Amino acid sequence: MSPENSHTPAQAALLPALHAMQDRHGYIPTQAIAQLAKDHNVSRAEVLGVIGFYHDFRLEPPGRTRLRICRAESCQAVGGERLAEHAVERLGLDWGATSTDGRYTLEAAYCLGNCACSPAITLDGTLYGRVDPERLDALLAEKDET
Ligand code: FES
Repeated sequence: MSPENSHTPAQAALLPALHAMQDRHGYIPTQAIAQLAKDHNVSRAEVLGVIGFYHDFRLEPPGRTRLRICRAESCQAVGGERLAEHAVERLGLDWGATSTDGRYTLEAAYCLGNCACSPAITLDGTLYGRVDPERLDALLAEKDET
């Protein structure tokens, strides 16, 4: 079943509002859940269900640097898993977690649309291809200097 078929029309209508809110705040503030439910004539549980269905929505503010690593097939086939393990170890974070100092958020993505240049990542929204652990370290070091 595709995501479009797994929600009711009212739940699906939430998606633009959720995207707009996350674009504005970087996450979906929990205080906004009740108003979103009221505006779209759904329950708060339904709002949370839609948020939970998609990896991209967050209920907490992200870190100052947001690293997303593609864990889909094309990237995995050419070193993506080694890259992912390196990122987890280097940052000391689980997937979806933010460091206690608020510096980094590490997220998994399932295709960043850059399969021809796998493994792919985004760093604060900028797409990079053919990233290996050494290049990731260099990109993070550049971020640390800014
Ligand atoms: S599978 Fe990684 S960018 Fe498409």
